[in-house]
Amino acid sequence: MKKIAVLTSGGDAPGMNAALRAVVRKSIYEGLEVAGVFNGYQGLIDGKIELLQLGSVGDIIQRGGTMLRSARCPQFLTAEGREQAMAQLRRHAVEGVVVIGGDGSFRGALELSRLGMPVACVPATIDNDINGTDFTIGFDTALNTVIDAIDKIRDTATSHERTFIIEVMGRNAGDLALWAGLAGGAETILIPEEKYDMPKILNRLRRGTERGKKHSIIIVAEGVMSAAELAEKLITEEKVDTRVSVLGHIQRGGSPSARDRVLASQFGARAVESLLRGNVKTAIGMKNHQVIEYALEHVFEKTDDGFSDFDKGMYTLSKELSI
Ligand code: ADP
Ligand code: F6P
Repeated sequence: MKKIAVLTSGGDAPGMNAALRAVVRKSIYEGLEVAGVFNGYQGLIDGKIELLQLGSVGDIIQRGGTMLRSARCPQFLTAEGREQAMAQLRRHAVEGVVVIGGDGSFRGALELSRLGMPVACVPATIDNDINGTDFTIGFDTALNTVIDAIDKIRDTATSHERTFIIEVMGRNAGDLALWAGLAGGAETILIPEEKYDMPKILNRLRRGTERGKKHSIIIVAEGVMSAAELAEKLITEEKVDTRVSVLGHIQRGGSPSARDRVLASQFGARAVESLLRGNVKTAIGMKNHQVIEYALEHVFEKTDDGFSDFDKGMYTLSKELSI
């Protein structure tokens, strides 16, 4: 193998740049040429491919977003689009591709491997929803952003003795909401993995008020319902002074945490090693504090409950600690 390409795709995540830096530096260290593909799969189809040097990835380890830009690319969902992408890779003599992104991007990578292109996939999404890895790049930074917001909201919630509903991202996964709720001391956490019970939520609020609690923080994952919908239900059932806060895309930005930078560096370098060892469709991940490689198909295997590696024990703990 003489030359590989790297791209970032799907929703961006803090730490993508650190992963890109690791891929480029490790490749050059190993004597490989490395090309950057701009704008995800769209750039692959359009041939926006440039050779990267050591200096190309200088001063980016601390930056959020992705220097290569990202995109969602409907054209890559078609066989014709993917053929065009393959033609570009052949034209640039690329023999392997590192895809940094979420599970959608991994599906795209699997399609590339079916066309004969070796791929190694680096999980980067704030949703932490990729089967087979305990953590994805960007999750820790987003979590800290959410915690910072909860702490601030708690101040004003206390002053005004209000209930706040905070909506967090995560698509169909509840990890961000669950971890943020636990670390932020929320009274109630609603996640897609667990059915919610409106009378119980109301009861908990009432019990809190009776005990003299000055505020209540409810975290709702966007995959359950919007904060506005939940507020509507609360206000209809019970006259609670409620405000909503939708954190939105601030969760996707910002300088990556130390933890995300380290994870990104480990994952990026391991992806290059994996390609060099001749693996053709691999996902990189972290299990029990060890960096691992596993079959890309495992990401798409259905779990019993339909959710990726959900930590039920953590959900139970969050309820026990917020009585
Ligand atoms: P993420 O990678 O963050 O989950 P998306 O789900 O939007 O983000 O996927 C990113 C891109 O990956 C899509 O815009 C598309 O180009 C490509 N992709 C997603 N699913 C597939 C698929 N089944 N086949 C081929 N390409 C796909
Ligand atoms: O997958 C990352 C994510 O931020 C999800 O949490 C969210 O549902 C989605 O992307 C938002 O996508 P967009 O940036 O296209 O609005």
